Amino acid sequence: MPHNFDEIIDRRNTGSFKWHYSDDTIPLWVADMDFKAAEPILTAIEQIVQHGILGYTVPTEPLYQAIIDWHGSRYGLWLDKQDILFSPGVVPSLVLLMKVFTEVGDAVLINDPIYTPFMTKVLDNKRKLVTSALKEVEGKYRLDLDDIEAKIVEHKVTLYLFCNPHNPGGRVWTLNELKALLSICKKHNVAIVSDEIHQDLTLSGYQFTPLLTLAEAAGYAHKVVSLTSMTKTFNIAGIKGSMIFAKDRALLRKISKQQRLSDEHELNLFAYAAMRSAYEEGGDWLAQALDYIEANIDLTVQFLEKHLPKIKVMRPEASYLIWLDCSAYFDDDQALYDALREAKVELSAGIKYGREGHLKMRINVACPEAVLREGLNRVYSALNSNENPKA
Ligand SMILES: Cc1ncc(COP(=O)(O)O)c(C=O)c1O
Repeated sequence: MPHNFDEIIDRRNTGSFKWHYSDDTIPLWVADMDFKAAEPILTAIEQIVQHGILGYTVPTEPLYQAIIDWHGSRYGLWLDKQDILFSPGVVPSLVLLMKVFTEVGDAVLINDPIYTPFMTKVLDNKRKLVTSALKEVEGKYRLDLDDIEAKIVEHKVTLYLFCNPHNPGGRVWTLNELKALLSICKKHNVAIVSDEIHQDLTLSGYQFTPLLTLAEAAGYAHKVVSLTSMTKTFNIAGIKGSMIFAKDRALLRKISKQQRLSDEHELNLFAYAAMRSAYEEGGDWLAQALDYIEANIDLTVQFLEKHLPKIKVMRPEASYLIWLDCSAYFDDDQALYDALREAKVELSAGIKYGREGHLKMRINVACPEAVLREGLNRVYSALNSNENPKA
């Protein structure tokens, strides 16, 4: 069924984190789409409400099967039911896995730039934060494998919190990159937690490889965990809910035990229902959403090339988030963010994703085209008249 992605739905005064303004500012920041959820998901939720009983609920066999089929048929990640654990969110799982693999004071490696909680959760949980900057080569980020290995050795890293597809920058790491990474981590006995929440937003021409599909062959499944969720894919983040996958029985027992310390192994009944219907029946909505997103990415790239040609645009391989280098226009991160806010458009400030985000902005283009066009006009008015004197 064709979905109307052009529909503009007013999200103000709904408690929306994204639309938090009292004026008509356009939010092109947090990774939340302005599209109505897929019909089958809404129907599944309505059915629960109609039924009227909202009691304790556990995952059902059809739910496990839906998760298994989705990941197996799309990515060749064939899971057994026992390989799947549930968690309220990917960020809570990052913290959980940090507790499984490390002790207070241990060194945890991340890349820079990276989705902010990777940094804050390591520090909040009193682990030592070690960063390896991504290298920009021909307009794309690359893993600096030499630097990663050097940092692992220098800081005695025990855990690597990895992001694939990467946020921000949108890289879908290739098979070869993943194999090289696994081999370095195995050599130095470093556990890897791979945040794969953006997996289903892989854009045409790219192939997402779950790290777990390589871990077993590398004889390293006991040290690899992947985290993913239906919430980002299907724009149902307010429902909360995610999955933890691993392929090693002893590791799964350890994770499960850690989860039960704080009783964090269950989801609410709406999340289970949304997850099942998303994976059973959401494929059509997702395909249409990705087409719409690709068109919005094209529109944005063309607009910026024409009107703000000094912005360096990193075209994503996955997701609806585009990484923009605005250093030709501004020389101060706060001034850049403020100028955009003054023009009544909000983007995510790159500096929040680490030092490598200096003078970068992340723009979210998952909104109706008309909203995006107006947002881009505002970006133009904020940046056009400015020039970085040092650039
Ligand atoms: C890489 C990455 N991981 C995790 C999350 C959030 O996951 P959750 O809401 O399940 O905690 C996001 C949200 O933008 C993200 O981009």
